[in-house]
Amino acid sequence: MIITIDGPAGAGKSTAARALAKRLGFEYLDTGAAYRAVAWKVLKEGVNPSEAAAVARVAKEARIEFVQRGDARRVLCDGVDVTSEIRSPQVTTKVWCVADEPEARRALIEQQRKFAVGRNLVTEGRDQGTEVWPEADLKLYLDASPEARAARRLKDLRQFGVEADPEQVRSEIEERDRADRARPVGRLRRTEDMIVIDNTHLTVEEVVCRMAQEVARRRPGVVHGACSRPEGEE
Ligand code: DC
Repeated sequence: MIITIDGPAGAGKSTAARALAKRLGFEYLDTGAAYRAVAWKVLKEGVNPSEAAAVARVAKEARIEFVQRGDARRVLCDGVDVTSEIRSPQVTTKVWCVADEPEARRALIEQQRKFAVGRNLVTEGRDQGTEVWPEADLKLYLDASPEARAARRLKDLRQFGVEADPEQVRSEIEERDRADRARPVGRLRRTEDMIVIDNTHLTVEEVVCRMAQEVARRRPGVVHGACSRPEGEE
């Protein structure tokens, strides 16, 4: 079974996808981490982010792995643990060079599809339900208000010792939404067949519960325990 979670930046897709996968006993794929890992390698190799062919080469060559170490899930790029570094503001400001490069995207999409072979998967990223898995068994779209997403972003920045102006962060988020919906490749799209969950006022547990209910509607045997029944059904 393939479950996709699309949605705007900062809506909490990774957290929800990880928690849902754990709840179902599925594998989880954070596709943004792969885009970030390639951007990390672009920076490490001193490649010019504006040189599309060079960025595409890095994307094709990068060996990205997700490994479980105890309770923690680590992201490796060419054997180097880059889990923390790929979240740094330096990588965040350069990741566009990978996300906007069609050939780099093709390479990463190929890896994503290979990763899914023989697996039950929860996968998240802004093109998962549209371009990568148009045939997914369940397509979710996770949304949250710009204010809620700005608050989360400020918290993330603080972890890197960066203090930012809340109003500016909020307007950057709105600008980013506009840009993501207009990207030349891999743009953010909400399609008719997606189930929309707005998590502005929901906890992670509540989000996962709603998602699990949608899974249960389609595959009753997959969800065990509480939340296994669709809402309103006894
Ligand atoms: O979700 P994130 O912030 O970790 O994603 C990092 C970047 O990669 C962000 O600019 C969006 C982009 N991305 C993408 O273009 N397609 C995906 N499937 C996942 C992420």
